[in-house]
Amino acid sequence: MLDTEPLKPEALPQAGFERPAAFGRLPAFADVRPASDQRASAQHLCGYGKVILLGEHAVVYGSHAIAAPIPLAMRATVQEIPGNPGVILDVDRRGVAQDRAQADPDRQDIPQRSVQLVLAHLGLAGRALRIRISSTVPAAMGLGSSAAFAVAVIRALDQHFGLALDDAQVNMLALRCEELAHGTPSGIDNTVATYGRPVLYQRGEETHRVSRIQPLTFARPLPLAIGLTGRSSSTVEAVAAVRRAWQRESTRYEAIFQRIDDIVLQGVQALHDQDLPRLGALMNACHGHLQALDVSTRELDELVDIACRNGALGAKLTGGGRGGSVVALCPENRDRVADAMCRAGYRALKMDLG
Ligand code: PMV
Repeated sequence: MLDTEPLKPEALPQAGFERPAAFGRLPAFADVRPASDQRASAQHLCGYGKVILLGEHAVVYGSHAIAAPIPLAMRATVQEIPGNPGVILDVDRRGVAQDRAQADPDRQDIPQRSVQLVLAHLGLAGRALRIRISSTVPAAMGLGSSAAFAVAVIRALDQHFGLALDDAQVNMLALRCEELAHGTPSGIDNTVATYGRPVLYQRGEETHRVSRIQPLTFARPLPLAIGLTGRSSSTVEAVAAVRRAWQRESTRYEAIFQRIDDIVLQGVQALHDQDLPRLGALMNACHGHLQALDVSTRELDELVDIACRNGALGAKLTGGGRGGSVVALCPENRDRVADAMCRAGYRALKMDLG
């Protein structure tokens, strides 16, 4: 296990980061047009989408994971309206329609239930509200859309009602929403959605739920291509399936979680050393372990294969899997990788991370 000391990580159990400078300092990306308000000032409140670079699924069982915000986000505004108590949710997904994603009718009320949970926690139950959401985060693509939604709503309510919540409170409340959406989340999505910066994350014990969040600084932005399968990734189902398998075969699964943990910590070192070939190799190895956890699919494997054959240093599925997206590390050949993904019938986003 490698030492993380060179990064000077601070243990920040639920501590507040400075609010990031939103999208002002993030580079442009090619294939998705940002919503116009996404280019606005740092004062705009949002919940960030994210990619997990290394460590998904194992992170639910106490392993480390590395995740970072992407230049896609959700924003919300709150309006008090006349009439009976209740919340009208207007969600505007400009430019992020998903061609092949299928809506799951059982889960369609999750956003509404999350909002009700937040209102109850904030002592605002029984209000008549219209909440408008604008999003550039593709839903159910493993890019943290449910956490971004929760954070956007909480921040908008905070601002509208002058509640002066701090980031730690926003994060904890977003975790409650993630529990509603995902059952047993690690808490990594809501953490990145709230703080908007790269982190090395390790969840707390079940009972305490105080996580170790270590901010990571990338010396240079990481050039990525994200390949979207267009198939919905149901994180709740993927996490539940891994849990059932872990209960059946705990020794084998825990060995895989341990190997993923080792990979993540080696990834921290590779990031510190700016050793992108090493980081790419670790991403490939991680994808192999995610295949062993049975959360990859033919399409995810195909996207990983396309990325590696066209010059990516490494690629892996990101997020819950069983659909969703892959992340490919492409300091060179990024256009070639993205074009090849598109030619094979997928969507590709190009973005720099960190
Ligand atoms: O699919 P997403 O973006 O919600 O990411 C899920 C990540 C998991 O590690 C699979 C679950 C978790 O809570 O960490």
